[in-house]
Amino acid sequence: MPNIAREELKPEESEQLLLLPGGHPPLWNHMDSIGPVGLRQREGAPGCSQEGLPCPSDSSELPVSPQVLACLQQFKVTETQLRQIQASLLCSMEHALGGQASPASSVRMLPTYVGSTPHGTEQGDFVVLELGATGASLRVLWVTLVGNEGHRMEPWSQEFVIPPEVMLGPGQQLFDFAAHCLSEFLDAIPMDKKGLQLGFSFSFPCHQTGLDRVRQSGHGDSGWKVCSPMKAIGGLIQVFCPQSTLISWTKGFRCSGVEGHDVVQLLRDAIKRQGAYSIDVVAVVNDTVGTMMGCEPGFGPCEVGLVVDTGTNACYMEEARHVAVLDEDRGRVCVSVEWGSFSDDGVLGPVLTTFDHALDQESLNPGAQRFEKMIGGLYLGELVRLVLAHLAQQGVLFDGCTSSALLTQGSILLEHVAEMEDTLCPSSPLAGAARVHAILQDLGLSVGASDAKLVQYVCAAVLTRAARLCAAALAAVLSRLRHSRELQMLQIAVATGGRVFERHPSFLSILQETVMLLAPECDVSFIPSVDGGGRGVAMVTAVAARLAAHRHLLEETLAPFRLNHEQLAVVQAQMREAMVKGLRGEASSLRMLPTYVRATPDGTERGDFLALDLGGTNFRVLLVRVTEGGVKITSQVYSIPEYVAQGSGQQLFDHIVDCIVDFQQKQGLSGQSLPLGFTFSFPCRQLGLDQGILLNWTKGFNASDCEGQDVVCLLREAIGRRQAVELNVVAIVNDTVGTMMSCGYEDSRCEVGLIVGTGTNACYMEELQNVAAVAGDSGHMCINMEWGAFGDDGSLDLLRTCFDANVDQASINPGKQSFEKMISGMYLGEIVRHILLHLTSLGVLFRGQQTQRLQTRDIFKTKFLSEIESDSLALRQVRAILEDLGLPLTSDDALMVLEVCQAVSQRAAQLCGAGVAAVVEKIRENRGLEELTVTVGVDGTLYKLHPHFSSLVAATVRKLAPRCVVTFLQSEDGSGKGAALVTAVACRLAQTACV
Ligand code: BG6
Ligand code: GLC
Repeated sequence: MPNIAREELKPEESEQLLLLPGGHPPLWNHMDSIGPVGLRQREGAPGCSQEGLPCPSDSSELPVSPQVLACLQQFKVTETQLRQIQASLLCSMEHALGGQASPASSVRMLPTYVGSTPHGTEQGDFVVLELGATGASLRVLWVTLVGNEGHRMEPWSQEFVIPPEVMLGPGQQLFDFAAHCLSEFLDAIPMDKKGLQLGFSFSFPCHQTGLDRVRQSGHGDSGWKVCSPMKAIGGLIQVFCPQSTLISWTKGFRCSGVEGHDVVQLLRDAIKRQGAYSIDVVAVVNDTVGTMMGCEPGFGPCEVGLVVDTGTNACYMEEARHVAVLDEDRGRVCVSVEWGSFSDDGVLGPVLTTFDHALDQESLNPGAQRFEKMIGGLYLGELVRLVLAHLAQQGVLFDGCTSSALLTQGSILLEHVAEMEDTLCPSSPLAGAARVHAILQDLGLSVGASDAKLVQYVCAAVLTRAARLCAAALAAVLSRLRHSRELQMLQIAVATGGRVFERHPSFLSILQETVMLLAPECDVSFIPSVDGGGRGVAMVTAVAARLAAHRHLLEETLAPFRLNHEQLAVVQAQMREAMVKGLRGEASSLRMLPTYVRATPDGTERGDFLALDLGGTNFRVLLVRVTEGGVKITSQVYSIPEYVAQGSGQQLFDHIVDCIVDFQQKQGLSGQSLPLGFTFSFPCRQLGLDQGILLNWTKGFNASDCEGQDVVCLLREAIGRRQAVELNVVAIVNDTVGTMMSCGYEDSRCEVGLIVGTGTNACYMEELQNVAAVAGDSGHMCINMEWGAFGDDGSLDLLRTCFDANVDQASINPGKQSFEKMISGMYLGEIVRHILLHLTSLGVLFRGQQTQRLQTRDIFKTKFLSEIESDSLALRQVRAILEDLGLPLTSDDALMVLEVCQAVSQRAAQLCGAGVAAVVEKIRENRGLEELTVTVGVDGTLYKLHPHFSSLVAATVRKLAPRCVVTFLQSEDGSGKGAALVTAVACRLAQTACV
């Protein structure tokens, strides 16, 4: 026997161990306290009385030899050791999650791509094929799911014994056998067998790779499309991309030609070869996943599946962002721990007995699955057999005689162990003892008076150790869950499955008690699985099928939003054409308005100026001091209530003047007549720098009697009505122009101004000779494109979706500002809301239930898009945002809403990029340059706050205008500064003219 280091029990630990699980005091621990001479089952032992079972008042002392004690002693695992195993396993889990190259001895943490737990509403008929869960048998089930409403229906099922030569033969033979069993089963049941959907429960360690294939819809092998792993997760349950590569056989299987291959494909091929039925393999899962997913709804979400059958393993719902291989930061994904392979020599070494080593050596996979070999049902009987054979050979049992059966591998099965151990504390000890006798006699052993009881202790020792080790592993998973969810107290349901649980009830109670000891901050309910996990597999299959259908509808809905390069190039070309026409004064949806701004600032401007900034999210009054040392701004935001923005013009301009007066008073400027620059962010036909005729209101403004009027006059009239003030309105500028000027002060290459905020628009420096409306052939002039109206002549109709049409119809200016309504902040939230309504009506979202909230106009603000799409947000935060809106959604819903937002904002950014590309290309060509280096000054809340908008615009411009090197410079001070600078330039020029 190798000399194995063993830890001594501290007295307090020994006490804890004695008090451990209900039903079965771990008697081999008593031996420390009772001593080597006798083994006595104590009357009213705490374990027995806890379970309420009458205990035998057996006061007889059993002679226990030192050999027996030494044997049983080896199966003792102290609390300290359990804690060490728990910690080491947790560490191994975290390493594997982090993607660090993990040795074969560590846990594997395999993502299963099951990303959501079932709704409970799943319906339909599903075929389930189980391979590898239960020893040498294969199970086929026909499961009918009836949703929440109907009565649960018992599945049809049939078990087939897999001949040993098939378990160890060529892989094709195994899969052909499976396909044969499938059709034999289907032949026998009276069901409609059209369009069969199959869930494959394959309980061996597999890499579910091939995430680059997501099936779009339909059946069979057709219709695959390439997409990114992220997309696959976006589809929540990746199982409709079932591809599962076997890493290595475990648990008594060793078929050739399967390791390293996709078992789904092998099954498909076999079904095809068999040819009897057309079956679509929709999902592939591990048995732990089936166990977890089959949990009866009503217990709350069950997020851990624990199986102790032939082998042992667990799965649980991990935050996807913690699973390095996924490169996914949203949602949860079910991870199969594959803890059977755990084998940290440091902590398992002292626990491994000579019997464990012997068992490992004689197994099909020596050195592998060391943890599983102490817990899994395939091995428990074998461990007992090895101990009994050893004790017999030592002369302690069976009169020192063995039998050929006892010396034959596999002669004692899990069933025997469970049965013999279960008679330890029965109401009828004699019947129990008789059963032990019978089992031992069947093995050809002559059973002496004390043998039966000793054999029971051996069984109890082996099983209890298994339960306690399993508990340490489960405690590691629970700690992981609690930690990753940042919870003080974790409340969780664990679904349990497998024959060890079924046949050996005290396994669960030992497990439970030990978990309480090792993870006291976890409140765990254990729930037995339904139909041996078959129902869970059907659930996964149903969810996979449902999600595949939903994904198809989602993709179909969002497809028109996904613009390709050609479409964007067409937009760019159309924009270019409209620019030229607009400049020439021909019919065009682009007005190309001259601004009378002829130069960007040169840095020599000086003075104090007032500025107004009207038309964006905020109305501001500003004092701008331009000095040698730079620009200093003092400003105040005033509100413009909707009734003023949409009331009479007089009311609006009186309100503006009131705000100016208030500002002047607060700044001690009353009585001074500073030059004023007016940023007025609406389309104006300018006849000079201080003359701007409002062509039409846009965005949320609609004040009466203004359109067709000179806005500067309207402001001057309002000043006149407020006799106390004197103001000198020098310039009126569009916000794009103000932004370009403001950025131009910092960067002399800034010759384009771009706004993507409430509305969208751009301006740029055009050659004066191209501007038909203004006389003169030399020099430049800034042109306000008013590109928001691009497409109002129908040129964008091919790209417009029914959702754009809905948003347009409900706006205050239907038929106007087509481009703006596809891009800017005032409308994107509304587009998203209309898409969500549509998806709800299709049953894809919110379980098809229309909520009143979602029917409310403008409920979905564009700032939500920015928040929802923020990379730093976990899905639960996305959910919280949406729940705040009164939308009750699941994680699946949240991910779909996220995808909708992404599609809408991506289209907006790309269209905007196509516009910018048209502008910079025009400037380049105007100047006959091979390459243009230019800066675009940008402002607007959508551009600034959205996490991806700016980079998408830049990327689109790079693609569409490869000969332009474009820098985007965000305006820091708003366009008021620019308006003041325009005013300053005008004042400087006026002064120069006077001199
Ligand atoms: C501001 C500018 O910063 O951005 C305004 O000062 C401009 O002139 C506005 O209209 C545009 O963005 P939003 O999001 O406020 O409409
Ligand atoms: C609207 C206005 C335009 C402004 C833009 C950005 O499109 O018509 O003048 O520049 O919004 O605020």
